[in-house]
Amino acid sequence: MAVTYLNDLATLVSLCKRRGYVFQSSEVYGGLNSCWDYGPLGANFKFNVKMAWWKAMTRRPDIVGLDAAILMHPTVWKASGHVDGFSDPLVDCKACKNRFREDHAAIKDGKKVCPKCGSGDITAPRNFNLMFKTFMGPVEDESAVVYLRPETAQGIFVNFENVANSMRKKIPFGIAQIGKSFRNEITPGNFTFRTREFEQMEMQYFVKPGTDMQWFETWKETRWSFYKQIGIRENKLRFNEHGPKELAHYARAAFDVQYEFPFGWQELEGIHNRSDFDLTQHAKFSGKKIEYFDEAAKEKYVPYVIETAVGCDRLALALLCDAYREEKVEGGGEDGDSRVVLGLKPEFAPIKATILPLSKKEPLQQLSHKIFADLAEDIDVDYDESASIGKRYRRQDEIGTPLCITVDFQSLEDQQVTVRHRDSMKQDRIALAQLKTYISDKLKNF
Ligand code: GAP
Repeated sequence: MAVTYLNDLATLVSLCKRRGYVFQSSEVYGGLNSCWDYGPLGANFKFNVKMAWWKAMTRRPDIVGLDAAILMHPTVWKASGHVDGFSDPLVDCKACKNRFREDHAAIKDGKKVCPKCGSGDITAPRNFNLMFKTFMGPVEDESAVVYLRPETAQGIFVNFENVANSMRKKIPFGIAQIGKSFRNEITPGNFTFRTREFEQMEMQYFVKPGTDMQWFETWKETRWSFYKQIGIRENKLRFNEHGPKELAHYARAAFDVQYEFPFGWQELEGIHNRSDFDLTQHAKFSGKKIEYFDEAAKEKYVPYVIETAVGCDRLALALLCDAYREEKVEGGGEDGDSRVVLGLKPEFAPIKATILPLSKKEPLQQLSHKIFADLAEDIDVDYDESASIGKRYRRQDEIGTPLCITVDFQSLEDQQVTVRHRDSMKQDRIALAQLKTYISDKLKNF
């Protein structure tokens, strides 16, 4: 069978809109740049992405979860370096008023020019902070300024002692968190890849100084295995080491996990050795000691932190790009000779199985609804009785549903249904009494 993978993002954007994965935010008003809404299928799918990460992180004895507030004390962002350092240098084109990042200028005759109109009449760079500001309470003055967090990590650092004490955790241990972050990005784009409102999945692993580089290597391996295990093609993944110039102000070492999107190799996840930078800064700015007492060794120290940070939306996009394929079906399929398949692993598929009655006639509907209600207790199922069976199979392939359950007139007689497999298109006849067990088994061993 000839298979073609995704090679332009527009094809996926169109599928996402058509099939209810992702819509442009506020579309009826013309849309809001770089903001996206997850539709009914997208919401389920994104939930599954979060669950896969959450399980990988927290179903181990040395990592616990946290859900910190988005709004934090403004001094947090002074201590973290975001108030002073989280900015991009911007320049303005005096000719066409385009505002752009200095490093995005085009070069003409060795001079920086506007990438839009080509004029060389541009202003000196000015730093533009990427944090969204708002006011807490009814008075809009400087003392009421708070920020929408630009990363979830700081909620973990300021809760280090709360978690260590309440959970009686001994180093090494980690804290994992999923939540929204906001950055007033200058150049958002590529669909949900870079947006101004996004979700992060971050884990901070606290270790004894001196063991940090060893843990850094362990986490690189662990995260690489995670990507393999969730089914991303390995030839689409690579590590990229940050050179001294790229290292963030807090980092001793950093590697990105990159994925080859249709628009090129891009960062999916950052793995950073943040040293004791954050805990030391929060101790300095709060005036309170933040230390760990190692009872066995009878010594006090400020732990080092290994961080793994991935965007949930970005991972969701990588999974969709990786799963998309067009197939030429030899000898024609049930509905023509080509089909689009979203080959998601069943754990990510928003719908695991769809019930398709062959006719809208009363007795078939009744049986189909009964099957739906029974399966829905344990499995994400859908019900579709519109259009020809071939068209319905195509729709389910395109949204990534692993199994289709066809209910026909024979089912009324023999209490059996036909189960069709997304990838092989093979069909099995299964007794209703065995259906739930059969589906669970197939989904586990897809
Ligand atoms: N706490 C460290 C930190 O936030 P980062 O490299 O700035 O590090 C981590 O962000 C991850 O968050 C990125 O690898 C990316 O997956 C995601 N991310 C960052 N900015 C994003 C944006 N504007 N839109 C979508 N995802 C973003």
